[in-house]
Amino acid sequence: MASRLPGAWIAVLVAVLCLASPVAAKLSTTYYQKRCPKAEQIVSDVVTSKQITTPTTAAGALRLFFHDCFVGGCDASLLISTNAFNRAERDSDDNISLPGDAFDAVVRAKTALELQCPGVVSCADVLALATRDLVSMLGGPFFDVRLGRKDALASTAASVVGNLPSPNMTIDQLISIFAKRKFTVQEMVALSGAHTVGFSHCNEFASRIYGFNGGSRDAYDPSLNPQFAQALQKACANYVKDPTIAAFNDVMTPGKFDNLYYQNLLRGLGLLASDTALAADPRTKPIVELYAANQTAFFKDFSHAMEKLSVFGVKTGRKGEIRRRCDEFNNLST
Ligand code: HEM
Ligand SMILES: *[C@@H]1O[C@H](CO)[C@@H](O)[C@H](O)[C@H]1NC(C)=O
Ligand SMILES: *[C@@H]1O[C@H](CO)[C@@H](O)[C@H](O)[C@H]1NC(C)=O
Ligand SMILES: *[C@@H]1O[C@H](CO)[C@@H](O)[C@H](O)[C@H]1NC(C)=O
Repeated sequence: MASRLPGAWIAVLVAVLCLASPVAAKLSTTYYQKRCPKAEQIVSDVVTSKQITTPTTAAGALRLFFHDCFVGGCDASLLISTNAFNRAERDSDDNISLPGDAFDAVVRAKTALELQCPGVVSCADVLALATRDLVSMLGGPFFDVRLGRKDALASTAASVVGNLPSPNMTIDQLISIFAKRKFTVQEMVALSGAHTVGFSHCNEFASRIYGFNGGSRDAYDPSLNPQFAQALQKACANYVKDPTIAAFNDVMTPGKFDNLYYQNLLRGLGLLASDTALAADPRTKPIVELYAANQTAFFKDFSHAMEKLSVFGVKTGRKGEIRRRCDEFNNLST
């Protein structure tokens, strides 16, 4: 009887330790050191040359990564193509609209990796590394990416519903969609700084610049700088016929990862209603002001928040696989 007690205690201890140590603890920055020592270098080389030839790659990758992670974890589920058996995440009604150049960068990096060390590096890790490298190429901070993510065994359009933020959400809805994933208000504001690069299509902000609040055709949101609003009205004039028309998220330095996004918000130069909302609400405004005044503080918090995002909902062990192709499950009939 007495000899059983230690065993029982060990079982309890093990259970407590397992509960306390998140899955992320299994990831490490040296995960591929033995089986694919050049993995990071290969990804970096491929995505760097892609970004040089196609400068839209970086912003696309950052958005792709965010959406992949927010919907069921960072598991490359968003890279899966729809097939006869399954409508995949990327074809949800929410129109995630997979950024093609970023997807191509990941596919090229994966192809190079498969030549060097076949079947070793997951697509989820490639996307995480590619995003980190591309952010730093735009002038943003460099941060550590722990590795060892497995690729998802499922990807469904239905899983997207209600899991991505949208520009017409209230600040309460935005805070709550991040809080559901254990991100603080400060982390949400820091991650939103990603809108210092890339662009948004006119339909994402059209209700702010045409017929605002049921007003006349040229009525715009009064929280917008008037010159900015009028320039957007002109730029987007034909957006219904041509839905590809887009505007830069950061009108001042569109291709540079810096803190101008926050400075813009304080001057009525926020593009999306959700951007502008961050500068209006008393819970988020002080953080916007901090980052607008101090880029070092923004980069520090953005790096930490990205490291946290990059391990969100990560799958390890038998919960996932190392895909051979990033757009297909290894077992095609699933
Ligand atoms: C806070 C809530 C957020 C909302 C409502 C939101 C919404 C949007 C929308 C509507 C677009 C334009 C898409 C298009 O027209 O193609 C966009 C673009 C973008 N978003 Fe967000 N987003 C949010 C947070 C984030 C976060 C946390 C990140 C990354 C960490 C991110 C990264 C990006 C990037 C980089 C682009 C530009 C994409 C490109 O140029 O291809 N966003 N976002
Ligand atoms: C998604 O895109 C399709 C056409 O590509 C469009 O008809 C539809 O309105 C879009 N849905 C949303 C929610 O933006
Ligand atoms: C937000 O926009 C989406 C499409 O872009 C629409 O389906 C939804 O009804 C809007 N929500 C609100 C609260 O206006
Ligand atoms: C800016 O933020 C950094 C990092 O938080 C901090 O060390 C530094 O003192 C801040 N600079 C100023 C001028 O407040």
